[in-house]
Amino acid sequence: MANARTPPCAGGGQALQSSLSHTAGGKYPIKSSPLPILGFLLMACAPSGRQQEVAEPLAVAAVLDASPIQPVPAITQLDPAQLALGERLFNDKGLSKDGTVACASCHSLETGGVDRMRTSIGIGGAVGPINAPSVFNSSLNFVQFWNGRSDSLEDQAGGPLTAGAEMGNTWPVALATLRADASYVSEFGKAYPSGVTETNVRHAIATFERSLVTPDAPFDRYLRGDTTALSEQAAAGYQNFVDFGCIACHQGAGIGGNMYQKFGVMGDYFSDRGNPTEVDLGRFLVTGAEADRHVFKVPSLRNVDRTAPYFHDGSAETLEDAIGVMARYQLGRKLQDGDVAELAAFLRSLTGTYQGRSL
Ligand code: HEC
Ligand code: HEC
Repeated sequence: MANARTPPCAGGGQALQSSLSHTAGGKYPIKSSPLPILGFLLMACAPSGRQQEVAEPLAVAAVLDASPIQPVPAITQLDPAQLALGERLFNDKGLSKDGTVACASCHSLETGGVDRMRTSIGIGGAVGPINAPSVFNSSLNFVQFWNGRSDSLEDQAGGPLTAGAEMGNTWPVALATLRADASYVSEFGKAYPSGVTETNVRHAIATFERSLVTPDAPFDRYLRGDTTALSEQAAAGYQNFVDFGCIACHQGAGIGGNMYQKFGVMGDYFSDRGNPTEVDLGRFLVTGAEADRHVFKVPSLRNVDRTAPYFHDGSAETLEDAIGVMARYQLGRKLQDGDVAELAAFLRSLTGTYQGRSL
């Protein structure tokens, strides 16, 4: 058990299983030995009494550099006119075919950037096939969507507008609607020399999304050296997260969002669940490669306490359920109730702030 007063320390060492595959872009690929991670952890805690050193700015910087998880980075400078326009577009139901659905309908900033539905509902009550991920911290993802079919926020922003089960519109109609609104014409004019264009709509929305980062989660404060930021239970949960090998897939500033992995590494999740759907095929739908069947972008665990239900199929209603499924199908282990509770406490320490308020 980790002591809440000390920085995270490496424990068991059985963390990373060589049977895991499909690393693409992760900073700590699973196929390699766990040494980089353990190296960091040992550095952070090996000789007792070194905690003070770790808390010093320089040492903290060094530790953070080598840490498998980094705090949410500060927002880079964003153009205020583009940002304001993007926020307006994000909230505008007028961009949908029947004027009833905005990006914010499924990604409300009041509810963690998600709709809290198993799968999303678009115009005319159309039930979508898949669970909505959060827009918070989506700028930290290496690709967008569960199957990674979009490689930028600009590219992604066009998808929902024309998706039949989402906003159901066409670009010519959406642009005509915007051009008919004098206040939009003036706002676009201030933000972009070329005025109302599809590219500028996408760029403005993406710019707004880049502002949706959530710094200062208790765990980030802990990473920066504030050992009081986590409860003892949450600190023990982080220890489990490392020891059990969750960290092999959920890592980086997003604690996820930087690699693809198969869902069902250690067991057949899909046949156990039943009722196969097309979206279960994951990245296979994008590449057609057999090895990509059931492969998904590892989702970010930032603010995960605010974004139930979980998984692309929305099948897990609580964090505890999701942790059990992950342990079984990704790591091949059955966890004790106490371990699950600690992991859940750690995951609840990942809730950050937006505009100075906790989500
Ligand atoms: C009807 C509900 C709905 C609407 C409206 C909607 N989205 Fe989504 N959004 C989803 C769902 C569902 C997904 C996951 C789709 C997938 O991965 O195949 C998603 C995925 C995303 C992602 C990818 C996040 C990630 O982690 O991969 C971003 C970013 C996003 N939406 C932004 C937007 C923007 C911007 C708009 C408005 C232009 C919008 N959404 C409109 C439901 C919606
Ligand atoms: C082999 C890689 C891998 C390992 C190890 C792993 N995960 Fe995951 N995790 C994933 C993938 C892939 C998904 C997305 C699955 C899906 O819905 O298609 C996911 C999804 C999740 C989700 C749901 C997030 C959401 O927004 O829906 C949670 C919570 C989670 N993992 C926690 C954990 C915990 C805790 C552990 C350790 C016990 C763990 N994971 C181990 C790859 C992994």
